[in-house]
Amino acid sequence: MKVKQLLKDVTLKLSILEIDNAARDARILVAHALGIPKSQLSLNTNDNVSEETKSSLEKLISRRINREPIAKILGKRQFWGRTFFINEDVLDPRGDTETLINYVIDRPVRSVLDLGTGSGVIAISLACEWKEVHVLATDISEAALFVAQENAKYFNVQDKIDFLKSDWFEAIEGKFDLIISNPPYIGLSEISEISQEVLNYDPDVALFAGGDGLEAYEQIIPYLPKFLKPGGIVVLEIGASQGESVKTLMNSSGLSEVKTLKDLARKDRLVTAKFH
Ligand SMILES: C[S@@+](CC[C@H](N)C(=O)[O-])C[C@H]1O[C@@H](n2cnc3c(N)ncnc32)[C@H](O)[C@@H]1O
Repeated sequence: MKVKQLLKDVTLKLSILEIDNAARDARILVAHALGIPKSQLSLNTNDNVSEETKSSLEKLISRRINREPIAKILGKRQFWGRTFFINEDVLDPRGDTETLINYVIDRPVRSVLDLGTGSGVIAISLACEWKEVHVLATDISEAALFVAQENAKYFNVQDKIDFLKSDWFEAIEGKFDLIISNPPYIGLSEISEISQEVLNYDPDVALFAGGDGLEAYEQIIPYLPKFLKPGGIVVLEIGASQGESVKTLMNSSGLSEVKTLKDLARKDRLVTAKFH
């Protein structure tokens, strides 16, 4: 069988099973099984496909049919211009989270605390972009911390980041110029609106935060003044409808200059504040 026929067959199979973007996914999976970049596929359409490639492709297709996201199947995700290793133990990093980086990138500081680092995308992006920074990256999940450490080694920033298992601030000491976090913020009441891709392949601990999705903010925000240096800032990712609630929590914790910021889709995505 030639590559072009294989592409048609895989596209058909995925579309019959109502996988969105079947043609795009087919190209990605076929290229992955062939071990070539997707952009090279059109040069190889008349090549014969080996039995070995076909059988590894079958395994990839059945994972996609089980609604596993492409990024989890490939084990990698692009974030802020870099390709990160990901697996079943971490949240598949979202484009929305680049809003956090975009906001802080031109305000470099020396000390950063990244709460709930997951695959490490926030901590590592800042360590790569800022020359003189030290980041403490924490998570409650040891398995996630392992992934983040592998990514830090890959990008050669392991000397700029300490990794620590901690239930939010429990094991943390010291004060920071910047506290940044994309905590879990989905309410259990929203579970029926979540796709199978997310529900079955992102860890629950990375998604859910109590009945209304505000639990992590309620646990984090009261402690911010204790862990921020004077003049330090906090930047938290939020769900689009959570701006007012999170702002109220920030104001009642004694933080100032509390504001929400929008993402590229013009939805509330960040709450920031300062500690004086
Ligand atoms: C939404 S994910 C964000 C992961 C990563 N920072 C990103 O933006 O892709 C939330 C992270 O918070 C971690 N987490 C959840 N509860 C926690 C807790 N009580 N203490 C520390 N980390 C926690 C999860 O394990 C997960 O890695």
